[in-house]
This record gives sequence, structure tokens and C-alpha cells, in this order.
Amino acid sequence: MKLWSGRFIKDTSKEMDDFNSSISFDMRLYKQDIMGSMVHAEALFKCGIISLEEKESIRKGLLSILKDIEDGTFEFSVQYEDIHMNIEKALTDRIGEAGKKLHTARSRNDQVALDLRLFLKDEILEVQRKLVVLLDTLVTISEDNLYTIMPGYTHLQPAQPITLAHHLMAYYEMFKRDLDRLKDCYRRTDTNPLGSCALASTTYSIDRELTTKLLGFSNYTMNSLDGVSDRDYAIEFISVSSIIMMHLSRLCEELILWSTNEFGYIEMDDAYSTGSSIMPQKKNPDVAELIRGKTGRVFGNLMALLTVMKGLPLAYNKDMQEDKESLFDTLDTVKACLSIMSPMLSTLKINRDNMQKAANKGFINATDVADYLSKKGVPFRTAHRIVGELVLHCTGKGVSLQDLSLEDFRKASPVFEEDIMDIVTPYSCVVSRNIPGGPAPEQVRLHIDSAKTYIRDTKSFLSQQS
Ligand code: ARG
Repeated sequence: MKLWSGRFIKDTSKEMDDFNSSISFDMRLYKQDIMGSMVHAEALFKCGIISLEEKESIRKGLLSILKDIEDGTFEFSVQYEDIHMNIEKALTDRIGEAGKKLHTARSRNDQVALDLRLFLKDEILEVQRKLVVLLDTLVTISEDNLYTIMPGYTHLQPAQPITLAHHLMAYYEMFKRDLDRLKDCYRRTDTNPLGSCALASTTYSIDRELTTKLLGFSNYTMNSLDGVSDRDYAIEFISVSSIIMMHLSRLCEELILWSTNEFGYIEMDDAYSTGSSIMPQKKNPDVAELIRGKTGRVFGNLMALLTVMKGLPLAYNKDMQEDKESLFDTLDTVKACLSIMSPMLSTLKINRDNMQKAANKGFINATDVADYLSKKGVPFRTAHRIVGELVLHCTGKGVSLQDLSLEDFRKASPVFEEDIMDIVTPYSCVVSRNIPGGPAPEQVRLHIDSAKTYIRDTKSFLSQQS
């Protein structure tokens, strides 16, 4: 018999039960549901709705259900629709009348909102922990590659010389912003909706401050309609996850490119590569490709939940049951991708020689040669043209700017002096970009030092969170 069957004269159809039920996926919320019920029982006791004995019996009953679920012996049933009613039904079966009192001054609407917020709070911390490991990995590799010269690109054409450290620290900044976005999202998730009940709160004087404190929330929701119908926090988390996935995907795209024969900048470790079933020579970057590919499903989840919510009148509508799979799939995906990204990166073989060789080609020092002239008084536009002609000359001869002799330079402009021969090397082009944010090893070192402080502080903050 359904817990709500009083006003019905017929049973629901089996097909309806299967269609309506969310137990196959919301069973993931069992711990939060049980914790929420225990705290709700405290509030019921405090306002005299249940006795001390009843509260104790509810607590024991819920703990025995928790144990059975964790032991894998609890039988979930689609007949009881969702995690909330499966647990409530089992509780009443186990402890009798007191179990029937638990749902006083509560609705599944504030119950599900509570469970989801409690669940997401823990998960946000978990994603942050994984992100900080990735930040750490990026910093470690960067520190080893402060002097690894490589071309920086625009339009995927060689542009100006940078270092691998400078390139990877760009990703450090992206993932750091993601971590900060998660902190912000946590703040808004950290609000207790319990007491909103179905939509219009309750006539019982439930102590919302008590439940807020016992459940470890920072505050409670200020409007009962909003308390049960807000899913912004889930949408916000999926959008932050989408940005994380977009960043991961860009990095993966570069790793895939860099591991091609044509680039040859890196080689993926065997442990994170696959072979081909037909082509014996192949070593494929499947992990990076899968991360790039899984980005699509997270973007899809974001669009799904936004679309579910966009036309819903206040307050709760059953459409909102569709929030969970999008959220769970996002969590599983982003956590799996972050987990594998760090070891894949830290086991990469970096072919410094190939990066240096590429930096010697492609005229990526042309801007520096033009800057040289303009620092000696040649208007930049004129300098640009002179160096453009030099590049054309080199292209004809199949050489690079740094292969030219002083005489070659002086033929193009008498302003060139002996010191051009030092300035033209990719190494000195990098070293002289010595302003904050630039690729000069001295600057990237400073960036790495501040990154290490951020990582240390964030790790210690996260280790203090349960
Ligand atoms: N399983 C439901 C969900 O996930 C719980 C809330 C049901 N509330 C209701 N009024 N039918 O949204």
C-alpha cells in the first residue's frame, strides 16, 4: 500500500510505478536522507510532537536502515517510488507508530531539496580536492620546465617564443578560477531548506535554527516557496563543471596535437595510451580524447536542467525529479576526468629538443627583431616592414633569422649592430619578456611561488572540511 493512498480507490498501474519512480537513481541520497530525518526528529521532539522514546526509536530505526543499505541487504522497491518513501516505509515497518510521526511538519519537497543540498556540498569539496591535485601537478611540471623553450601559437601558427612552464601555468590560472567558482557555488548551496515543507512552511513551530546548526548549514532559506523550488545551486554546479570540462578539453586537445608525429613535443606514458587492433605502430591518446569527448555530456546536462526548470511555475513540480541524473552524471564525469588527468600529465615524456627545434623555426623571433629596431628609434611600422623583408629573404634561402650574419642584418638596415646576434635567439626572446605575466623564467618563478602558497592554503582548508 502506498504511503499516500488514502484518497485513492484503485492501485496505480505497474507501468505508472516504473515510470514515476526515482529510486533507481536517488538511492544515492540515502545517507543525506537518513541524516535529515534524524535532525528533523530532533526538531519534532523539541516542539513536543514526539516523545523522547519516540525520538530514540526513530534514531535507532534509521541507523538500522543505514546499516542494511550499506551492507547491501536493504530491499529498495519502485512501489515506494523514491528514497524518501522507501526509508519511511521501512522505518514504520521496523518501529511502528513512531515511524508514522516522522513526516509531521515535513514534505518530500523540502526533504529532497535538503538531501540534494547536503549531497552536493560534500561533492563540491570532493571536486575541489581533485582540482587542487591537478593544480599541484601543473605547478610541478612547470617548475621543471622554466627554461623549456617552445613556440607559442596564435591561429595554431607559430607566433612568439614562450616556455612550457608559461604555457602550463596558463592552465593553472584557468583551473584556479574554477576552484574559486566552486567555492562560490558552495556558499549558495550551503542553505537549509528544511521547514519549507510542501511549499508554504508549517503551522508547527519547527526550530529552523536548530536543524540548520545540527545539519552543518551556514544559514536557512528565507522563503518557503523558494526553499522547495530552487535548483539554481545544481545548475550553478553543472555550469562550473562545464567550464572545468571546457578547460580540460582544451588541454587535452593540445596534448593530442603535441603527441602527434608532426609535433613530437610529448609522448604519453604507455599506462595512459592504447594501441590499435590493426595498425601495429599506433599509440593513441585515448584518455585525452575521452576527456575531450565527455565534455559534451556535461554541456548536455547543463542544457537539460536549464530546460527542465525554465517553464516551471512555483513551487514544486515533478519535472524537478529530472534534476538528479543530470547532476549525478556531471559529478561522476567531472570527478573521473579530473582524477585521470593528473597522473596522465605527470607521466608525460617531454621532448625538450623537439620543442626547441620548433622554436628555432617559424620566425617566432620576428617581433623581437622589429622591437630591437624600434627601440633604436625606427618607427615600429617601418621596423615591421624591414623585418618582413628579412623573413622573405630567409624563406628564400631556407634559413631562420638567427642564422643570418651581422652583414645580412645590416644590409636590411644599418641600425642593426653586433648585439642583434644575442637578441635574436629564442632563448633571449623569452628572457627579455620580463614583465609580470610574461614568460621570462624569473616571472614564471614568481607565479609558481604564489601558486604554491595558494595550493598549500587550499589543501589545508579542504582537509579541515569533513
Ligand atoms: N522523488 C521526488 C523528486 O525527486 C521527491 C519529491 C516528490 N514530491 C512530490 N510532491 N511528489 O523530486
